[in-house]
Amino acid sequence: MKLSTRLSVMKPSAIRETGKQIAARPGCMSFAAGLPSPQLIPVEKVRKITDKILKKKGAIALQYGPTKGHEPLIEKIVKIMEEKNVTATRENIQITTGSQQAIFFSAMMFVNKGDTVITENPSYLGALAAFRPFECNFKGIDVDEDGMKLDELEAVLEKDNNVKMIYVVPNFSNPTGRTWSLERRKKLLEIAGEYDLPIVEDNPYGEIRFEGEDIPTIKALDKENRVIYLGSFSKIFCAGLRVGWICADKNLINKYEIMKQGADLQSNQLAQMQVDEFLNEYDMEEQIKEIIKVYKVKRDLMCRLIDEKFPKTVKRTDPKGGMFLWIEFPNGVDASKLLQKALELNVGFVPGGPFYPNGGHENTVRLNYSNMSQEQIVEGIGLLGELFSREF
Ligand SMILES: Cc1ncc(COP(=O)(O)O)c(C=O)c1O
Repeated sequence: MKLSTRLSVMKPSAIRETGKQIAARPGCMSFAAGLPSPQLIPVEKVRKITDKILKKKGAIALQYGPTKGHEPLIEKIVKIMEEKNVTATRENIQITTGSQQAIFFSAMMFVNKGDTVITENPSYLGALAAFRPFECNFKGIDVDEDGMKLDELEAVLEKDNNVKMIYVVPNFSNPTGRTWSLERRKKLLEIAGEYDLPIVEDNPYGEIRFEGEDIPTIKALDKENRVIYLGSFSKIFCAGLRVGWICADKNLINKYEIMKQGADLQSNQLAQMQVDEFLNEYDMEEQIKEIIKVYKVKRDLMCRLIDEKFPKTVKRTDPKGGMFLWIEFPNGVDASKLLQKALELNVGFVPGGPFYPNGGHENTVRLNYSNMSQEQIVEGIGLLGELFSREF
């Protein structure tokens, strides 16, 4: 049997691989996966609305539904976009099976074999995995505290005529926790306009801001309809329901709908109705406030402990929201070797190297603070501090 060429460029997720090692150690504390806090999943509320849906509209919830998505939910998503100062109608929305599916479809939309995809350096590992089967080349552009270094982007665009798409996570990014400044967002739009490139703006963490003012999404600043905005209910409601959306130009949305027909016909009808009913019955703002309250405490705790316990040569980012922070060890330190020693202490994290599309940077680590309890953060970061202090 001959397999397709794309399989040779696909590789397993470093997070899921680390996850397997962690799962093999019962009681292991994990700062590896990007999981929301289990305490914040509104199980009882979802049970009640599910009961209601099944009693009143069971035959709709368990039947095939429209490819575009559950109409009442689409209407609510239009309002969510309007609150972000994005002018949208139902024609601008496609519901997807998490924003992960929207990332995959976006590569299908714009990328042919051999084309270049621009990402941040480092970028979301799941996006790199979604793009790889399209047999593209990556150009990771370095980031600083204000976002992508746009002079580097311009230098790449001047030389490379094969760039077809720019993918960014401008708010509380996975993996670094960093957020783009307003100026960088405007400038990115300007550059993308000059080269007539689409920007895929992936924003699953935008609502989870602990402090400071909201910065407009790139989509809200976009006057040329070149931004494909990806939203998700995973981080503010229930990741397991797999409900996300695309907001984009209506001609593109028509094409996304055709992709959706071929991929899975529609997103899970019951899950879409559960999200819709939750928005009818409960206050999503309250849910988000609770998430912010809990994650802020954990962010504060993890940052304080890193500053106290890690060797002074270790650098960290300063996330103002979201679920992650990013660690940089001195050059020459190999985070994957340290991971093996950390696992012996029953603590896990993800080495940062795989988040760089063009490789290198083995001295980096992503730490998640949303999933573990405060007690586990104290114990786990303490153990990592002792390990790192012994090692370098
Ligand atoms: C930046 C980013 N985009 C997309 C996703 C996928 O989210 P969803 O659950 O909506 O598919 C994640 C999940 O961790 C993420 O961090």
